[in-house]
Amino acid sequence: MRIYSVVMEEITWYTGLSPTAFFTILAMMVVVYRTVCGMFVSPEDFNKPPIITASKNLGFDNEKPAPEPVQLGEITEQELRAYNGSDPNKPLLMAIRGQIYDVSSSRNFYGPGGPYAMFAGKECSRALALLSFKPEDINGNLEGLDEPELDILQDWEYKFIEKYVKVGQLVPDRNTQQNECREQIQDEDKKEAE
Ligand code: HEM
Repeated sequence: MRIYSVVMEEITWYTGLSPTAFFTILAMMVVVYRTVCGMFVSPEDFNKPPIITASKNLGFDNEKPAPEPVQLGEITEQELRAYNGSDPNKPLLMAIRGQIYDVSSSRNFYGPGGPYAMFAGKECSRALALLSFKPEDINGNLEGLDEPELDILQDWEYKFIEKYVKVGQLVPDRNTQQNECREQIQDEDKKEAE
């Protein structure tokens, strides 16, 4: 107890501050020191690659490299949906202007929890042209798009051609094909009757 009061008296005598003020200022200096130190890289860590926090948080750290892309040929939009990342054994696919790309190498973008997961397993032309994430825009309908929007889409297409392997193309689903066929036959019948 005696040592304690001697220390407190000494603090006041040397610093001219009350012990409470002295310890508050000391604590603040420690906090500032630690904050400033945290802003600099220590010499041992200098040449190490940066840690990408988003991918760490999303748990992609221990992932194996994506398997080699497999050619699928012609599939329907309905079939493409299965490649949205919900099955980890299937590749991640995405279509632009009917061409299907294997985007498995960018699982951090398109895999579950990724910022662009909504595009996986989908034809995304309209959304990319409009720079939109709205579910109603995630399709291949190019109707009503103006020239600048089609240019944006073109840029996306070039980026995908350059970065990813094309593994197939979309075809209308069987029902649509049958309906189109039926309509064509009806049109031809009509023309013949005229
Ligand atoms: C606030 C606005 C946005 C920011 C800050 C942003 C940021 C980024 C960044 C940093 C990348 C990684 C680029 C790379 O490493 O190649 C990226 C990729 C991407 N962004 Fe965005 N983005 C934004 C808006 C959008 C919008 C509106 C869309 C489309 C609707 C979009 C679609 C994409 C796609 C598809 C990729 C992945 C491309 C690939 O597979 O390489 N982004 N974005």
